[in-house]
Amino acid sequence: MTESSPAQGNNLDPWYDSYAARTAGLAASEVRALFAVASRPEVVSLAGGMPYVSALPQELVTGAMDKVMAERGPVALQYGSGQGVPALREQILEVMALEGIRGSADDVVVTTGSQHALELFSKLFIDPGDVVIAEGPSYVTAMVIFNSYQADVDHVPMDEHGLIPGALREHIARLKTVGRRIKFLYTIPTFHNPAGVTLTWERRLEILEICKSEGILVLEDNPYGLLYFGDRPPAAMRSIEEEGVVYLGTFSKTLAPGFRLGWALAPHAIREKLILANEAAVLSPSSFTQLVVSEYLSQADWRGQIDTFRGVYRERKETMLAALQEHLPELSWTNPNGGFYVWLTLPESLDSKAMLPRAVKELVAYTPGTAFYADGNGRQNIRLSFCYPTPDQIRVGIRRLANVIGGELDLLETFAGTGELSQLRMGRGAFPPSDLR
Ligand SMILES: Cc1ncc(COP(=O)(O)O)c(C=O)c1O
Repeated sequence: MTESSPAQGNNLDPWYDSYAARTAGLAASEVRALFAVASRPEVVSLAGGMPYVSALPQELVTGAMDKVMAERGPVALQYGSGQGVPALREQILEVMALEGIRGSADDVVVTTGSQHALELFSKLFIDPGDVVIAEGPSYVTAMVIFNSYQADVDHVPMDEHGLIPGALREHIARLKTVGRRIKFLYTIPTFHNPAGVTLTWERRLEILEICKSEGILVLEDNPYGLLYFGDRPPAAMRSIEEEGVVYLGTFSKTLAPGFRLGWALAPHAIREKLILANEAAVLSPSSFTQLVVSEYLSQADWRGQIDTFRGVYRERKETMLAALQEHLPELSWTNPNGGFYVWLTLPESLDSKAMLPRAVKELVAYTPGTAFYADGNGRQNIRLSFCYPTPDQIRVGIRRLANVIGGELDLLETFAGTGELSQLRMGRGAFPPSDLR
């Protein structure tokens, strides 16, 4: 093709050659592809991170909507400020105070879900070839954004106490030695998606210290912090450090994702740029949903409602762990103290991605660990979500999953003679019989 000739494209897409280079990173995530399959009613989906919105009394939302329309209809239906409604920003401070954060409503920028805050932040900070450090594994759709801005994601390992500070130090040193530019650390310290673990208080201090001394900005993403099942988790990292942390929050998990309302709390200079980027992207976040949520927060017992959600998710988590213990006792998994996810480790010989079609055939869906790594790792892991399915569905789903895993191990033993199955079965009976549906 000459410089002046039009794009040739291909049979499927005549504009194939015209897309910007950055779109190469915009691959459909494995989670997205799964949603289509897993939404069939006969499939028990342990895949998505959808909150159980049915636990939210609808009349509370309807009441807030009616009141907004009756009293402030013309404002609700109009464009608004690029930073968000001032009254809502004040209320967001109350929400964040529950996690130890003190800030000014001036430094809050309301966004279309925290997903949009991730997008805006990435737009502000990432140049092609920059490095974003993230936990390994990390939130899949954040990595899609980082990739779309042509960053390389460098995964730092975690353990049951969260990101490992020593490993972070090593990664930073290695990246700097080879001349890479590190733009920020993206972290989900509390009830991690997908690993379900929580960064300890001591590690929060240590990681902030490392980032401060290395001049690395921290992007703290915290959708799940208020959904704890027992003791409160450690206070947010933003409660310790103000200048070096941009904090992201959302109403998606504590209220409902359909509002598409999240926010960023950022140091002044970054906040200014975030507002400009927000205006450039959407002019203003939805006035209607901001006013409805603001009304809900001022009228309803929202703290009590979050308590109700905690009870729902605690029961589901306990059901999931009990079912894992019953059907897959040889495997290991994380025990989250809050949030939505359990991270399951499979026997070495299994591949969670390759096993997925068989699982869906057996009417259970999960997210393979590979979705949560930018570098192809995670084949030995599965993310199980307990947020949406009922306890009965969770029990059925885990039973089906155990059958699938048992079947895969049987196959391997038959054809490869690994002996892994007999090792795994030592100390307990065989996997459950195949027809448990
Ligand atoms: C870690 C994390 N960050 C951000 C989001 C995006 O949330 P929302 O855009 O609904 O606020 C999610 C959603 O699941 C998430 O798990």
